[in-house]
Amino acid sequence: MINDLYWFSCCSFLLVFLCCTVLFLLRLKTKTFHKLVKEEEKKLPKNDSIKRSQDFYQLMNTRRTVRHFSKESFPIDIIYNIIKAAGTSPSAAHAQPWKFVIVQSAEIKNRIREIVEEEEETNYKKRMGKKWVDDLKFSKTDWVKEYITDAPYLILVFRQVSAIGENGKEEVNCYSEQCVCIAAGRLLTAIHYAGLATLTSTPLNCGPPLRDLLQRPPEEKLTLLLPVGYPLEGCLVPRLKRKLLKDLFIEL
Ligand SMILES: Cc1cc2nc3c(=O)[nH]c(=O)nc-3n(C[C@H](O)[C@H](O)[C@H](O)COP(=O)(O)O)c2cc1C
Repeated sequence: MINDLYWFSCCSFLLVFLCCTVLFLLRLKTKTFHKLVKEEEKKLPKNDSIKRSQDFYQLMNTRRTVRHFSKESFPIDIIYNIIKAAGTSPSAAHAQPWKFVIVQSAEIKNRIREIVEEEEETNYKKRMGKKWVDDLKFSKTDWVKEYITDAPYLILVFRQVSAIGENGKEEVNCYSEQCVCIAAGRLLTAIHYAGLATLTSTPLNCGPPLRDLLQRPPEEKLTLLLPVGYPLEGCLVPRLKRKLLKDLFIEL
């Protein structure tokens, strides 16, 4: 009898202790998330700001979409840094609704190319219509996508439409499109800043088969497919004019 009572007390104590620990950890997690920290002092002298904004514009103005890539590789750490930079983007409720899939495997790149080329041939011949195909003539593109297998890396950007919340239920990530657009812009900027090139592509109708191939869950939607590498030596890009400053904005 005393023995039973002893074990009952021990088990009860252990149970209460475990519950308290779990509650404490949950509270700690919430507290850490909501804790406010002092923003670092980053104010620059105005002349420095002018210079930096000019320099940054000049650097960005040299970015071009490249459609022919060298097979020359480079350390994957550069890709990790580029993705880390994209991951510093702001996001609604700090949901960070993005996932970047890096593909280096020749076998997977071949399969991606097969999927994209098959769909793109149908897109060009049946889905896009004459005007769209005519509008693309300046870029001299068709459904053949050598860049998918030539570039040493592909980055596929997925948008997480929903996520499992703290209550274990699926919750929609608000403004996930805007968030992923911002992160994608930062990704393109980081690629250029690292001295590499890319081609922004949104392969029409390829989302579900590529998601399956890359084993991503159904709540993730493919947003961009980006080959990343060095431009093929001597490769050409279309002669384009960008909007002039006066046409870019209105001032009130
Ligand atoms: C959402 C989006 C989709 C694009 N899709 C393609 C594409 O499928 N194929 C292609 O060759 N270029 C594609 N481009 C690249 C554009 O053609 C290119 O950005 C535009 O012509 C301006 O040239 P620039 O990037 O050299 O300044 C795409 C760009 C964006 C933003």
